Amino acid sequence: MRVAIIGATSALAHETAKCFAKNGAELFLVARNAEKLQAVADDLKVRGAPRVETYVLDLNELERHEEMLTTAVQTFQGLDRLLIAHGTLGDQRKCELSVAETLQELNTNLISIISLLTLSANYFEEQKRGCIAVISSVAGDRGRGSNYVYGTAKSALTTFLQGLRNRLSKAHVSVVTIKPGTVDTPMTAGLKKGLLFANPRVVGEGIYHAMQSGKDVVYLPGYWRPIMFVVKSIPEKIFKRLSL
Ligand SMILES: NC(=O)c1ccc[n+]([C@@H]2O[C@H](COP(=O)([O-])OP(=O)(O)OC[C@H]3O[C@@H](n4cnc5c(N)ncnc54)[C@H](OP(=O)(O)O)[C@@H]3O)[C@@H](O)[C@H]2O)c1
Repeated sequence: MRVAIIGATSALAHETAKCFAKNGAELFLVARNAEKLQAVADDLKVRGAPRVETYVLDLNELERHEEMLTTAVQTFQGLDRLLIAHGTLGDQRKCELSVAETLQELNTNLISIISLLTLSANYFEEQKRGCIAVISSVAGDRGRGSNYVYGTAKSALTTFLQGLRNRLSKAHVSVVTIKPGTVDTPMTAGLKKGLLFANPRVVGEGIYHAMQSGKDVVYLPGYWRPIMFVVKSIPEKIFKRLSL
């Protein structure tokens, strides 16, 4: 199996990649930090990946996406799975004070991913098989005062993936929307850890299984599905008064 992982230095991507490595997948890893990327690649080789290739790219350089994806396909003479994992949990307060900051967050968490999906969808559609998985978030299920810029990106991403799934199902390509709740990774290092925080290994394994079985939408861990059902059911009149 040939798998491309975009944002491969993310803790969740790395945990997912460990499962692919253990199961003998060839891996094409993309990230912006060359040193971190090499460390992840070395680790995955030790864990059993027969071949690991790396590609250094800041994913906000949209004009280089096509070249990167073409390289991935040519390197392995095809691609079976694609995981898009990069993202930033920006500072909501800074976004409120700066349009530039808001647009930067939307560029990283939404626009760069739409660019990657637009290009890769055509490849998979023509191939008539494969799987595209993207890490969205429960934050996209309902806008909250504390992180609605990030939530907006994830919500729009979820809608984009819904439409893409509808289109690509005709070509037997699965599109997996992954919605983690809070996970203990570098992204949440500054947040107070509550009971609901999950272990990144557990979530990475969940992402791997969802990709292998071609699921549509997965909440990880699964307890987030009923939690978000309740959160979404709260009437706006009440919800707007809560400090969330
Ligand atoms: N942790 C959570 O609680 C949680 C919950 C729901 C969803 N998610 C989503 O899960 C995904 C992975 O996050 P994580 O928890 O694994 O956090 P993480 O370890 O901090 O990973 C984020 C990754 O995104 C990369 N990245 C950010 N901007 C980039 C850019 N312009 N170009 C290339 N790479 C870029 C970072 O690279 P550098 O290391 O070079 O900065 C890092 O590898 C994200 O999409 C996040 O939104 C996380």
